[in-house]
Formats: sequence, structure tokens, C-alpha cells
Amino acid sequence: MLEKINPTRTNSWYRLSDHFDELRDRSIIELFNDRRFEQYSLSFEDMLFDFSKNLVTDETMDLLRALARDCQLESSIKDMFSGEHINETEDRAVLHTALRMPEGSPLTVDGEDVNKQIWEVLRQMEKFVGELTSGSWKGYNGNSIKTVVNIGIGGSDLGAVMVYEALTPYHSTGITCQFVSNVDGNQITEVLNSIDAGETLFIISSKSFSTIETMTNAHTARQWLLDQGAGEEDIKKHFVAVSTNEQKVKEFGIDPRNMFVFWDWVGGRYSVPSAIGLPVMCAIGSENFFEFLQGLHEMDNHFRNAPMEKNIPMTMALISIWYNNFFGAETEAIIPYYQYLHRFPAYFQQGNMESNGKSIDRAGGRIGYQTGPVIWGEPGTNGQHAFFQLIHQGTKLIPCDFIGFAQSHNETGNHHDILMANFFAQTEALMVGKSREEVALEMKIAGSSKDEIKELSPFKEFSGDRPTNTFLLKKLTPQSLGWMVSMYEHKIFTQGVIWNIYSFDQWGVELGKELASNILKELEDGEPTENHDSSTKGLIERYKSWHQ
Ligand code: F6P
Repeated sequence: MLEKINPTRTNSWYRLSDHFDELRDRSIIELFNDRRFEQYSLSFEDMLFDFSKNLVTDETMDLLRALARDCQLESSIKDMFSGEHINETEDRAVLHTALRMPEGSPLTVDGEDVNKQIWEVLRQMEKFVGELTSGSWKGYNGNSIKTVVNIGIGGSDLGAVMVYEALTPYHSTGITCQFVSNVDGNQITEVLNSIDAGETLFIISSKSFSTIETMTNAHTARQWLLDQGAGEEDIKKHFVAVSTNEQKVKEFGIDPRNMFVFWDWVGGRYSVPSAIGLPVMCAIGSENFFEFLQGLHEMDNHFRNAPMEKNIPMTMALISIWYNNFFGAETEAIIPYYQYLHRFPAYFQQGNMESNGKSIDRAGGRIGYQTGPVIWGEPGTNGQHAFFQLIHQGTKLIPCDFIGFAQSHNETGNHHDILMANFFAQTEALMVGKSREEVALEMKIAGSSKDEIKELSPFKEFSGDRPTNTFLLKKLTPQSLGWMVSMYEHKIFTQGVIWNIYSFDQWGVELGKELASNILKELEDGEPTENHDSSTKGLIERYKSWHQ
């Protein structure tokens, strides 16, 4: 069981507070010497993690590691990997790491060999994908399947979308995927308008098989298929399910033989290596999917075994705590300089914010310090022309992760060098900045008058000292994507342990669901709207009068 230690009451926290007072007014650039890059970067296979552009010294890192030790990080890692019920509020183990263990590595949890169960499902997925891609799986009119539509939301959508998009260069089976998540009927309407019923297979992905958005979309898709000319007996040819809830899958009319199970010890936002990854496997094939699992597993091993000084997820977590809890940074940006990773920030927005957006500690008390940051981001270079102004010159401190690759899947003239020149330039500019004097000199050389220089130079100054992490990888592959996913997952875990919160529940999404289901009854039965504050009541009444 995870210890219940208030991090702010540890000796290391007190020492970090004193250390912060000493370091806060120094600049990152003044910490640089010839060896800083070597000393403040870590390598893992074909990935280089450079954290030298942060306001940290050896003492900072030592104290942060002491904090992790004081908060029992090492025993917490053992507890997670061995299947202890560390998700205590739901009394569940947390075993997404087991999903990517190689076949034949037995792991007994609650009396079951989970590795055997996992690989049975992976082999079932492989066989199913083989039937689709060989054309032996036929739709109601005898055609083979060309399009897979995944219907799911949150953890039953974001991971699959992100990996599907990230691994676009590995789409090799001839099957394309579409994703429907929003209950907004506009989304499913557009998707249904774009597909051919006889050549489409729907995957209904829902751990609970009762999420209103997913089930509403699933029923709409089902009815649409019937309207296109399929019969009830054809449903099984066009619908499969990924779920933990066999009873509900049967009630929907899906043949349980076409159900791909996962387990309550797989959290939704950690589930893409499970059967939730089925649409991905449909597009990239089983070999590439297994390579993705291998990458995840390799980073799991690194997290589990590497000493703290060399441990990439731990280092990321500790630096982030430094800014979050001592400098008061409220947000963190993830900025991939690779278009195929355009959903990566959104994926880890859920991963991080649903895990660590908590204000009650493991003892049930209200927390008096900051926990999970707001996570956001967009790919570079687009972000540069949108929100980078604030990162460079705004009043807020925003630590950023920059992710880039040495090799592109599409070199396309000199596009990749231009992209990467921007990648390197931005982290340098954020750290180094540009002083008022430098601005003045530049303006003078460009012929500006003294008055112009005086007037404009304050606006052109960059304070610098804006911290970044850089991840430079050789190439985006299924394996290296696996490294990155596991790396961020374990960063989140490490922080949750130190912040003394439960990272694997998500009670905060329940209240909105409850109220929405009550309001739905009011919208549908036309009854007067009662029992609401005047704002909510006024809005509902206006909606009803306009929604005729
Ligand atoms: O938004 C809450 C949540 O429970 C997520 O954690 C989960 O990923 C999502 O809803 C979908 O749930 P399900 O897979 O049960 O449909």
C-alpha cells in the first residue's frame, strides 16, 4: 500500500524551500559551463533527454531525489508493478505495465496469471485483424472491410487516436480508421456520411459499456446500418466490442465471441496497449503493434531499474515538481515538432490531468499545496505563430517539453531542417533571451533613431530564463512512440506518489454526469425546470423555448 506522507512535512522539502530562496534569482544561462549539457542530459536507446536548460543545480537534483526517497517512491514502484491494490479508492491493482510484458512472463495477480490472459486477447486481436485484412471477414453485402470506426470517449478514444495518427507512416493494412467520441450528433453524422455501410466495421470501445456518449453513438450507428439495408442478423458482422462488461455487450446485440476484453486493473487513460488499441492494430498490423508494446515495456524496465540519477521519467517528474511547487508554475506545455504527434499533447492532457488533478490526499485530507498542472500544447512550428508570444514575453512561467526527431518520414526538400532549426532556436531563445542593450544595438545598426530605440526597445526585449526540456529522438517508430508514452505515464505516477494523491481514480468526472442525466429528463419530458439555481434554470428554459 502506498504510504501517506505529506511531502511538505519532509526534511527534503524544507531544504528545497531554503535552496529555492538561494537559487530563485539566478539565471539558467549563468549555470552553464562546457560540461553542463553532458551532466544534465540522459540517453535511452535512440533518445536523448536534455534537461540542462532548467534552473537546477546538482544540489537541486539531489534534494529533489531525496524528496522522492522521503516519499517512498521506490517501494511505491514495486507495489505498482507487483499488482498491489494501489488504486485504493476503487480497490484495484494498477497494471497497465503488465499489458506490455512479453508473452510467457508469468505475473500472478489476485490468483490469476494476467500475462496469459493478456496474450490470449492480443492473439485474438491479431487473428481478427488477419481476417479483416485478408478479406475473409465480410460485411452484410459480401464486401470486405475497408473502414473501421472506433466509437469511444476519453481513455477509450484519445490513446487510440493519438497512436493511430502518430503511426500514420506505418499504416500498412489497407484499413483506415475514423473515430467518433463526442455525443454531439454533428460528429457521427459527418462520419456516417463519409463511409460505405457494407465495408465498415464499428468497434464499440468502452470499459464500462455504459458511458452515455459512447452508447448513444453506438445505437445511432446500429440504426444507421439497419437503415442502409442490413438486417438484425448482420449486426455481428459490423460490430465488435472492447470492454470489461460482457453482460452489457450482449445486451447491445454483439456476439460475445466478437468481444475483446480487458480488466478493471487497466485505467481508461492507460489502456491503449490493451484491446483498446484494436483500431490501431487494424491499421498498422500486429507486428507494428507488438513493436509499440515492446517500446513501452523497455521504458517500463528503465523506470523500474535505472538509478534515480539516470532515470528519465523520475527526472522529468522532479523538475516539474520544482517549478510547480516552488516557482508556482501552473501549467506545462508539450510541444512536439512532428505533425504526426499532433494529438500527443491532448492524450497526455487526459493522462496527466485526470490522474493528478486532485485536492484530497491519501489520508482523505484537503491538500495545502499544488498538485497536477494544466497540460496543453500543439505541434511546432504552428505553436510559434499562436501562443509562443506568451511563453517568451508573458508574465507566466511555463515549463515546456520540446520533442523532435533527427529523421523525418518525409524529408520533402529542406522542410525537416527548417522544422528542426526552429526546434533548436526556440529552446535557445527561451533560455538566452535578448537584453535591452542588445535590442538597442541591433536597432542602431539598422538605422533607428535614438528616440525610436528608447520608445521601442522595451517591447523587443526578451527576459529569457524560460525553462525547457528537450527530447531528441532518432526517428518516430512504433517502438520509440512506446518509449515516450511509458515515459510520460511514469512521470505522472512519480508525481502522484510524491504529492500523496491517488492517481488512478477519477471521481471528479462523476458530478457533471449525474447532473446531466437529471437535466436530460427535464429536456425530454417538457416538465417545468425546477431545483436549479436561477442561472441554470434560465439557460435551460431559454434552450427549451428555442429548441422547438
Ligand atoms: O471521463 C471519465 C472516464 O471514466 C474516463 O476515465 C474514461 O476513459 C472515459 O470516461 C470512458 O469510459 P468508458 O471506457 O467506460 O466508456
